[in-house]
Amino acid sequence: MSNDLFETDEGIERVWQEVLAEDALILRGYALAEQHVLLRAVDDVIREAPFRHLVTPGGFTMSVAMTNCGPLGWVSDRRGYRYDAIDPTTGKPWPAMPPVFLNLAKEAAALAGFDDFVPDACLINRYEVGTRLSLHQDRDEADTNQPIVSVSLGIPAIFQFGGNQRTDPKIRVPLTHGDVVVWGGRSRLAYHAVLPLKANSHPLTGSVRINLTFRKAR
Ligand code: SIN
Ligand code: FE2
Repeated sequence: MSNDLFETDEGIERVWQEVLAEDALILRGYALAEQHVLLRAVDDVIREAPFRHLVTPGGFTMSVAMTNCGPLGWVSDRRGYRYDAIDPTTGKPWPAMPPVFLNLAKEAAALAGFDDFVPDACLINRYEVGTRLSLHQDRDEADTNQPIVSVSLGIPAIFQFGGNQRTDPKIRVPLTHGDVVVWGGRSRLAYHAVLPLKANSHPLTGSVRINLTFRKAR
């Protein structure tokens, strides 16, 4: 754990960072400065591309509702998982990635040592109380040298983070409003999950958690 000073265009910035695993960091509260703009941008995206519950290749409907913005969106159906430039619900391209999303993802990745990260996909997850995301790897992306950047907004969740094997030991960390997690390098293919959300309420989101996950898909 360390409280580090970083030089940015705006001057000196203090970022509270925790090591989650090898090449994986939690930047505590890093998104707080942009919280209102970020949530307004989520509202803009979901007007064009509403949240929906995707079906897994195995036929299960996911409890977490999802949508995307950016050139590519992550989708799942009976045919499999993939990235697609077209939203299958609307038949239109995904909404553009808001500049505030892009800048936050690039800056967070750079702080974690991934200087040339330019995401082309942002998956937006909406967790209601009781919903969870089961253990998985993010491995539908072409270049695993590029990290994953994940932004948590709204009510807290417990994030589970393990190793490259499903059965590797896992640690549990709380993620709260404004936290940003970056994982890449040796942790890029780490299994991770979100445990069932406990009842809670946040002044800006109500009883919901929103997660933005930035990827370089192609
Ligand atoms: C994900 O693994 O896609 C989302 C992680 C999270 O919601 O924190
Ligand atoms: Fe994931």
